[in-house]
Amino acid sequence: MRVLLFGSPGAGKGTQAHMLVHTHGLYHLSTGDMLRAARKARTDIGEKAKSYLAQGRLVPDVLVWKICKDRLDEIGGDRFVLDGYPRTVQQAQWLDAYLEDTVGPPVVISLEVDPNIIVGRLSQRRINRETGESYHLIFQPPPIDVPLEHIIQRKDDRPEAIINRLRIYEEQTRPVKEHYRDLGWLIEIDGVGTIDEVHNRINAALPQVTAPSPERAS
Ligand code: AP5
Ligand code: MG
Repeated sequence: MRVLLFGSPGAGKGTQAHMLVHTHGLYHLSTGDMLRAARKARTDIGEKAKSYLAQGRLVPDVLVWKICKDRLDEIGGDRFVLDGYPRTVQQAQWLDAYLEDTVGPPVVISLEVDPNIIVGRLSQRRINRETGESYHLIFQPPPIDVPLEHIIQRKDDRPEAIINRLRIYEEQTRPVKEHYRDLGWLIEIDGVGTIDEVHNRINAALPQVTAPSPERAS
């Protein structure tokens, strides 16, 4: 099964991708996580992506496609959930051609969430800087055994960066949704409700699959 999780910043892509990893045994490929890891490791791509990440701007297409394609080649199969890619029509065209040559078309799940709810979600999000795990101060608080100094806010979750990301989503990423609607691959899912409720809606929309296997992550 090949799933593209699409949606605006804060729509719940990462949260729902983790649920699909557990229930469907898929690999989780998050371009945001891969870019943050590259920045932390100070690789060439990480250094080039650094300022884009901090400001919430899109990293250039060629860099993101490279990091994404390398990971797709590495897992070499068709059991993955792709979170945060594609974000431009150019990125979508490269991915479509790659999938057509290898494993076949994906299911594209678009999580629909009102922008007012998004701002609340992102400003309340915190990250475990050691594990990369994501929390929400109210809906998904960090477990009490996580040391406070490990819990940080992403730079792009500050108000000015959130506004920037939402604007960029409207200008550059929303057309990707229309691209997949035209291809007939798009499934729109209401992303408002509890995390379990949204997961159940996604599950109901996905083709029936085989039993889960152990957690896999990017
Ligand atoms: P990325 O890390 O992908 O960020 P994003 O798309 O802006 O999305 P987020 O991770 O902020 O949100 P999410 O949808 O995963 O929501 P989450 O599940 O965390 O990308 C970061 C940056 O990398 C980009 O700005 C760009 O610079 C670069 N980049 C990445 N991919 C790129 C690409 N393809 N091209 C170019 N540049 C790229 O949930 C958010 C919060 O809400 C959490 O606190 C969560 O606990 C909470 N929550 C989730 N679900 C619910 C619910 N149902 N109810 C209540 N709270 C909920
Ligand atoms: Mg995410």
